[in-house]
Parts: sequence; C-alpha cells; structure tokens
Amino acid sequence: MSILVLGGAGYIGSHAVDQLINKGYTVAVIDNLQTGHKQAIHDKAIFYEGDIRDKMFMQEVFTKESVEGVIHFAASSLVGESVEKPLLYFNNNVYGTQIVLEVMEEFGVKNIVFSSTAATYGEPKEMPIVETMATHPENPYGESKLMMERMMKWCDKAYGIRYVALRYFNVAGAKSDASIGEDHVPETHLIPIILQTALGQREYLGIYGDDYDTPDGTCIRDYVYIEDLIAAHIAALDYLQKGNKSNIFNLGSNNGYSVKEMLEAAREVTGKEIPAKVLPRRSGDPSKLVASSEKAKMTLAWEPQITDIKQIIKTAWDWHISHPKGYE
Ligand code: UFG
Repeated sequence: MSILVLGGAGYIGSHAVDQLINKGYTVAVIDNLQTGHKQAIHDKAIFYEGDIRDKMFMQEVFTKESVEGVIHFAASSLVGESVEKPLLYFNNNVYGTQIVLEVMEEFGVKNIVFSSTAATYGEPKEMPIVETMATHPENPYGESKLMMERMMKWCDKAYGIRYVALRYFNVAGAKSDASIGEDHVPETHLIPIILQTALGQREYLGIYGDDYDTPDGTCIRDYVYIEDLIAAHIAALDYLQKGNKSNIFNLGSNNGYSVKEMLEAAREVTGKEIPAKVLPRRSGDPSKLVASSEKAKMTLAWEPQITDIKQIIKTAWDWHISHPKGYE
C-alpha cells in the first residue's frame, strides 16, 4: 500500500515525501514539474510525471499503485498571479481536485489530506485566527482553495471520502541537512528574497509598505517551520486512517513577525548587511495574519518543535548557501 503525494516535487511536497519515506511509508509521487524540481524528489519514491487534470493518466497511476491515502499539494499558489489569471487557478486547483476526487471515488480510496491556506479567511478582524471564523477570501487563490474544501465536504457526504484540510500560514525554512529547500521561479516569498539579497543576488529587499497599522508599520505574518508543517500532515493522515471524521485545521506557530523583524533576524543569522528599501504596498496584502493552532494541538496532538524565527531562517540560509542557484 502506498501514500500518493500529488505535487511531491514542489517545496512543501518534497519535504513531505522525504519525511514519509524516513518514517517507513511507501510513497508514490505525481508531479507535472511545472513548478517542481525532479531533483527534489526522494530517490526511494516512485515518480509518475503527469498532470492531475489528466484523468487517464491518473487512472493508470491508481491502477499500478495500491493507494491507501492521498496527500495533495498539486496547486498553483501565487496570490498576485491568481488575481491576473483567475481561470488558471480554478482550472488547476478546483478542476484538478475534481479529477483527483473522481479517481479516488472510482478506486475506493477514502482518505485525503490537502493544502489549504490562511487566504481562505481574507482579512479577519480578530487575531489569532481560529477555524470557526468566517471565510471571505480576497483573491482567486484563496477562493479556489475554499472551493476545494467545499467540494471535499460534499464528496464526504456522498462517497465517504474523508478529508483533512490544513490551512497553512507562512511556511518557512528547509530540511535541517539542507538537502532540500525552497526554489521558486520567479521567487516572490519574503525569506528567500531576503536570503538572495544576503547572497548578493539581488540589490536590495523591497519592503512592501511601512504604513500598515502594526507597531513598526510593516506586515505581520505567522511563520511555521516546514518540517513541523509536514509532521502535521502525517498526523492528519494517521487521524483519518483511524476512522476519524473530516476536519479543518490551521497550521501556524502562534507567533507574528513583521517584515522588518524578519529582516533584522536574517541580518543576525547571516552576518550580512542586507540592504532594504521601502516600496509601495503590494496589493492584496492583509496587515496581520496570525494563527491559533490550538485545534491541531488538541485533536492531532501536533506541536511545532521549532518556533524560534532565527533557527527557522538558519535552515533556509544553510539551503541557500549550499544551493545558491537552487536545484539547477
Ligand atoms: N514581502 C515584502 N517584500 C518582498 C516579499 C514579501 O515586503 O519582496 C512581504 C509581503 O508584503 C508580506 C510578507 O512579506 O507582508 C510575506 O510575504 P510572502 O509573499 O512571503 O507571503 P504571503 O504572506 O503573501 O503569502 C503566504 C503564502 C500564500 C498564502 C498566504 C496566506 O505564500 O500562498 O501566505 O496567508 F496564501
């Protein structure tokens, strides 16, 4: 029996495959390599190159593999791009998930754990964010993830396919031995951009706005360490395999750091000056997003192990200095 990881060549998916294999699971990976990297896939995983929207391809994989559970990371995930190209997001994320569920139903696979996002909430008025708060996504990316959650809810009722939706806050860092890490092209995320600046690959960090309603005027986010985030997926899979009901959990570290605090922490970790310049706000950025992960703690017995932001940045720095050109 194998765990099928969709999007297992991406930043988060590759860390999941690695951790599953190290825990003794048999793992099969599907990835279309559009944003993922073949080199990131653990060599003990069976790799099928293809697209989750290709139903015949998916049926072939489910015929070859005896799938006991699915972990689904295969989605487009850039907020800005989703505003420009909403149909791409509904096609890849929503339609792609529909095909996944159709094939799961056909082959009688009953468990799925998947990446959702804090972007489903929009800009909540209260912090920290709990799962019972209203969802008002403010961009097509967040909307597409909410649609995925809702599709799963109805498939549970109709076919008994149970799901766990994990609403991520800001995923950060790399495996501690720096063998896998974060490599996006183009890169839009704060930590890799700061570290590329530290390496001299960028002239400066552009800080998107310092006039937000926060103590130093820059946006506050909740950074969760990648290996901790993956541990929650394995706990969620176990939760479903024990017969528990479908559920939704936030995954964060309960701590908020501003862009300026992140920059200062990275300066300390790297010992580099890291030039920065304040730029206008980036559209669609909420001022503050901090999770309550109490529910995941109570129900999944999940607790992030590494919450010190410098320690998290250090793992990303080790990856960046050992892979200055990413996986290339
Ligand atoms: N930022 C900068 N300069 C940069 C890059 C980012 O100032 O060059 C700022 C952003 O404005 C934001 C913060 O750093 O305030 C973090 O930005 P990221 O792009 O790293 O992450 P986001 O918070 O925008 O997005 C992340 C995930 C999304 C998810 C969202 C949900 O990448 O997929 O969290 O909260 F939808």
